[in-house]
Amino acid sequence: MEKPEREFICFAHRGASGHEPENTLLAIEKALSMGAPWIEIDVFCVEGELVVIHDERLEYTTSGRGYVTEKTLAHLRTLDAGKGQRIPLLREVFDLVERRAGINVELKGVGTAAPAVKLVRDYIINRRWQYEQVILSSFDHRELSRVKPLDPAIRTGALILGVPRHYARFAEELEAFSVHAGLAFTNREFVEDAHRRGLKFFVYTVNFPDDLARVRAMRADGVFTNFPELVIPRKS
Ligand code: G3P
Ligand code: MG
Repeated sequence: MEKPEREFICFAHRGASGHEPENTLLAIEKALSMGAPWIEIDVFCVEGELVVIHDERLEYTTSGRGYVTEKTLAHLRTLDAGKGQRIPLLREVFDLVERRAGINVELKGVGTAAPAVKLVRDYIINRRWQYEQVILSSFDHRELSRVKPLDPAIRTGALILGVPRHYARFAEELEAFSVHAGLAFTNREFVEDAHRRGLKFFVYTVNFPDDLARVRAMRADGVFTNFPELVIPRKS
């Protein structure tokens, strides 16, 4: 009997950020229209609300200046995040996606885990989202470790930029669902070690076909890409 093809997941990185301004509702809408099964976005916490933006400073993607977490929410919402888009709230992203794709929320700032868990539980309990449709991830493993005590069923992804001495052991210790590794530091042994520990292995950020082929050959389980069309066959 033929082996069933392994599922290979495409995360639209910061939405379809190769096409529309990153981390905006426009980029997320674009990713959905392209058929992306997963969307990755970054969040900081401001006045108890999770706002969707990658950089800790506003200059890189918005019309604002200074640090995101030093501003009021009202001020942040007046800024242009590209093509006249506002910096979205995480709940606006969940409302827009409406279970048409999974969402990987990358926790960027301190104090993001608790509000993210609260929001995810709200959407699971009240709005028919499934635990399988959400991953909370972070480079900040201390922040990430706050998730499981609040709700052990929420899936977590342990981000890393580098090759840890004991490969995926750090992620197993965090009881993570997945390792999210940098492309430059991904190798076959690292992937195999993750699989042996029962973890998925996702690679960021893969924007070229030759890199995609290399990562697939290493048996990774998916990639984060600014160009979902690289992975998803075009709709005819
Ligand atoms: O979550 C994958 C990737 O987004 C991590 O790096 O800097 O793009 O948030 P960064
Ligand atoms: Mg990210």
